[in-house]
Amino acid sequence: MATLKALSDIISTGVFQITSACAACGDVYPTLDDPYTVESNNIQNRYAIDAAPVIAAAYQLIATLSNPEPYIFTWGMSSYFSASLAAAGQGCVPDILTEVGSDGMHVEEIARKNDMDADKLGATYGGNRDSTTHDPLAGRILRLLASRNIFAETASNRFRNNRISSALCTGKTPEAMQARPAEKWDNTNGCSAMTEFLGTDAARAAGMLVDNLTDPATAHSRGPNRAPIQRAFKTDLPFHYWLQEPANIIHMKRLQHGMRTLTAYASEDLPTGGFDWAGLPENQLVVDVGGGIGTVSMDIAEKHKHLRYMIQDLPATVEEGRAYWASVKPEMLDSGQVQFQVHNFFEPQPVTNAAVFMVRYILHNWPDTYAVTILKQLRAAAQPDTTLVVLDQILDYMSRDGDTGEADIPGAKRPVAPEPLCPYPDAVSGYGYLVDLLMMGCLNSKGRTVTEFRSILNEGGWELRRVHRFAAPHPQQLVCTPLPQSISSKL
Ligand SMILES: C[S@@+](CC[C@H](N)C(=O)[O-])C[C@H]1O[C@@H](n2cnc3c(N)ncnc32)[C@H](O)[C@@H]1O
Repeated sequence: MATLKALSDIISTGVFQITSACAACGDVYPTLDDPYTVESNNIQNRYAIDAAPVIAAAYQLIATLSNPEPYIFTWGMSSYFSASLAAAGQGCVPDILTEVGSDGMHVEEIARKNDMDADKLGATYGGNRDSTTHDPLAGRILRLLASRNIFAETASNRFRNNRISSALCTGKTPEAMQARPAEKWDNTNGCSAMTEFLGTDAARAAGMLVDNLTDPATAHSRGPNRAPIQRAFKTDLPFHYWLQEPANIIHMKRLQHGMRTLTAYASEDLPTGGFDWAGLPENQLVVDVGGGIGTVSMDIAEKHKHLRYMIQDLPATVEEGRAYWASVKPEMLDSGQVQFQVHNFFEPQPVTNAAVFMVRYILHNWPDTYAVTILKQLRAAAQPDTTLVVLDQILDYMSRDGDTGEADIPGAKRPVAPEPLCPYPDAVSGYGYLVDLLMMGCLNSKGRTVTEFRSILNEGGWELRRVHRFAAPHPQQLVCTPLPQSISSKL
């Protein structure tokens, strides 16, 4: 009982602190019924550190108060959450509900607009039955999501958006999406694209995880073409190379535009926190290695216009990136301030005058030996004053004795929360561990602890100088300088 009380105290004290701090600053903390906006995201980001123990305590309370079996079974069936999210996105439901008032839209009307089956989408009666005979206990795709506060069921079979589901809006009509599916995610926050990727391609990989772990041909392999996803897609190509194939371009576009969502909610913090971009001299060159369509570069370039940016990636992605920038920031392309370059990061790096090499969510895409090769290529092209900025998830252990970083590296060591909370409350949502397994499923790769990062960085010729911790789940920054060649070649 003492633990229950302690957990509930953490929740009530934390909520009191957040509401008091909001009142003092004039911030209005968003409710679930408010629409999704960049400003409301920024307000949440401001209080993310205070919210983390509250969220962790709430998760722990739910587990404490649940019977083990239903708790386990609910998680066991959770693949249907990701599939349902993807289905709602494919069916344009968030956009269909955009203009709907507080009483929501009947699921039959939603189904008429998106051509989906009303019963499967959310109605509580079978397709052949009289539509007035409702079974109030049945529930389907939208209702499942509403049970986790994604959409709201306002009356039987009537749904509306809430703040969370409205983050999935693309600003396009169902007709436009059906006519031009490849453009569905253009000029969006990327949330719908990422959600559809997670509920389709990534979910297919997850379905193959057990087979992959138990088949002797793949069980101990570290090959990027031996991940569960190759089994699902019946291919031998590493996932990012498979995405470059002309037949799979829509998958590539979905993932690349989805990457935007991983910074959209951090747009205020990412370019101003951590590494001192503003302190770089005029005209210095930032190379965004494996930069995708230039999502991170765009956030940084908007704030730091005194720098030049080079975004490198594989051919089809570079083409998509140029088209993306031409539509949203043509002046930066036209002036040459932002350039794209096709470059395979396993080959010698052609840019030898970079002030910064930046790699976001690249190292966690590759097993150690491959990640070290990428780092060595960057080291070989670095000047003595070149900085490497790694933006990636840093994993923490769930135990108190676990290593959270190297005490000698500024910013690496984390404060530990008091019991009964787990030591790192922001780890409790599982987000970082889910991304780690996503890497296992799609790329046969992994997330890393600070110590693991330090090890591959040293092997690749870089010294880890500082860690900038952002409130999870924002990516962390690891700032590195070149090791002297004589040392790095011995490592
Ligand atoms: C997870 S995405 C990250 C994209 C971008 N850094 C971001 O954070 O939005 C990984 C990127 O690595 C690129 N990539 C994979 N293999 C590559 C290679 N051999 N050379 C260059 N880029 C590669 C992919 O095309 C993809 O854009």
